[in-house]
Amino acid sequence: MRLSPTSPIPPTRRTAARRITTAALAAGAALGLAATSVGTAHAADSADRGRPGTRIIGGTEQPDGKHPFMAALLQKGTGNPHDRQFCGGSLLEPGIVMTAAHCVEGTKPKEIETVVGRTVLSNKNQGELRNVAEIVVHPRYAKGEGAYDLALLMLEEPVEGVAPVNLPTAGTDALIRPGAKATVIGWGNTNTEVTNYPDRLRAVDVPIVSHIECKASYPQYDSKVNMCAGVEGKDSCQGDSGGPIFRKLQGRKGVFQVGITSYGDGCAAQGAPGVYTYTGSAKLWDTLEESAAGKRALNKLAG
Ligand code: ARG
Repeated sequence: MRLSPTSPIPPTRRTAARRITTAALAAGAALGLAATSVGTAHAADSADRGRPGTRIIGGTEQPDGKHPFMAALLQKGTGNPHDRQFCGGSLLEPGIVMTAAHCVEGTKPKEIETVVGRTVLSNKNQGELRNVAEIVVHPRYAKGEGAYDLALLMLEEPVEGVAPVNLPTAGTDALIRPGAKATVIGWGNTNTEVTNYPDRLRAVDVPIVSHIECKASYPQYDSKVNMCAGVEGKDSCQGDSGGPIFRKLQGRKGVFQVGITSYGDGCAAQGAPGVYTYTGSAKLWDTLEESAAGKRALNKLAG
């Protein structure tokens, strides 16, 4: 309801929200969902009404510098970065930010910029701002289908002094055991009832959901390249797309990013966990080389 194109949200933010809306609606349509993440009144709305505990969508504000690898995707412009933010991302390599394909599909590098290591969007002193030289969208990503929702932003200049995220060993599932706790972060909507985009980064811990359960919620769910997480009241939401869901491992510095925020039916509703691009999927990375740009990006990753 609130993110529909007619919603009275600020003009700059509206542009971003529209982009998200279109992608999410397309994804929902392909999934055969009547009302999607941004659709009309849906389960999450009515379920959350008047229940303060379930807003945010269950998360908390994060202190400055806690997630240095976190990236914000901004539309280029002179306005407040808080109004220009439209998706999240993560630093995969000093020169590469990983995000969701639906965030940047059809976008030219010149139209966006990315800032790594910023916690408060409006604070221009935080983080490292970079231009994007090239946008590599996964060749198997098809608008509206939900799978292969991965894109790599090749930066004009590398980000120095920030440890990139780790990825799970390709082709394994040790880090997505159902019930295990993962953390998802972003500047996305915090309230399914009254839309609110926070300036400060937020995080919420969510349980990983099994493939079979996720498939019950989303018939088009592709367990080869996706994973699911979330529980009623705790989820990512619009504006979090492209950002990371990750786990901390004992005795290991840094984090392991297991997924990229992709889609969901509403936010934080019972029986509708968030769906993420699974970054430990061998198929996801192997098929990236089906395009020349993807192949070049892979070579850069390997080298
Ligand atoms: N597609 C949304 C975006 O562009 C993310 C939706 C995530 N939804 C969820 N229920 N986890 O920001």
